[in-house]
Amino acid sequence: MIIMLSYKSLILFFAIYIILSIIPLTFVLAMGEGNIKESNNIISLPSPTLKGHVSVEEAIKRRRTRRSFSSDPLSIIEWGQLLWSAQGITSEGNLKKRAAPSAGALFPLDIYLVLGKNSLDPIGTGFFHYLPDHHALKRLSNKDFTKKIAEASLWQYWMAQASGMILITAEYPRITSKYENRGIRYSHIEAGHVAQNCFLQAESLGLSVGIVGAFEDQSLIDLLPIPEGHEPILIIPVGKKAKE
Ligand SMILES: Cc1cc2nc3c(=O)[nH]c(=O)nc-3n(C[C@H](O)[C@H](O)[C@H](O)COP(=O)(O)O)c2cc1C
Repeated sequence: MIIMLSYKSLILFFAIYIILSIIPLTFVLAMGEGNIKESNNIISLPSPTLKGHVSVEEAIKRRRTRRSFSSDPLSIIEWGQLLWSAQGITSEGNLKKRAAPSAGALFPLDIYLVLGKNSLDPIGTGFFHYLPDHHALKRLSNKDFTKKIAEASLWQYWMAQASGMILITAEYPRITSKYENRGIRYSHIEAGHVAQNCFLQAESLGLSVGIVGAFEDQSLIDLLPIPEGHEPILIIPVGKKAKE
């Protein structure tokens, strides 16, 4: 009887162990390629990982501006990781600090994601606002803006071949209210930090990343559904590496 009981308990123990192991795995898979949930135009991003396979030194050494991409889409995990490296929350407490430094912690920048024909299923094409506090995307449009953005960027059509583009904008009054004109300089310096974070994160993920500062500001402002006063500063096209 004692042997029977312990045998049954052993089976029960293993059954519980297997179920508990499968639940987190299922969750990770669900957040992977296929099972992306969009509700009220909000898409939650998978939590970023804090461990990579490439050292900071290797990423700095390998970093290059790349202008060719394969047509494969980035996964939601890769986008989540890149957006987190750009402006993700990296501290808790009353004042939530972010992945890049910000003069006076005034955070004048916003991050937008542009997805074109090489975007991921089932999200499809569109224009999204990254919400750092929620690590989520808010859809602002379903349109594919990639070709028009490339045209506004002095016809740099290579950009439209990327899986997507990260757009950095600045809302200067958030920072000029404290630092006056110098706040404009600080915003641009901050955008450089964000861009370098994206470069190094992309390198660590084995992705191809470019950077574009040559564009017609007003054409982008007229084209994109960004709030009034958000000035485009930099565009960072990202894709999978082109096959050699
Ligand atoms: C602020 C800024 C704006 C840039 N704008 C463009 C651009 O519009 N188009 C482009 O192809 N490269 C652009 N670049 C990339 C530079 O051409 C590139 O960084 C430079 O050639 C050095 O190469 P590397 O980044 O591979 O080291 C820009 C770089 C910076 C920092």
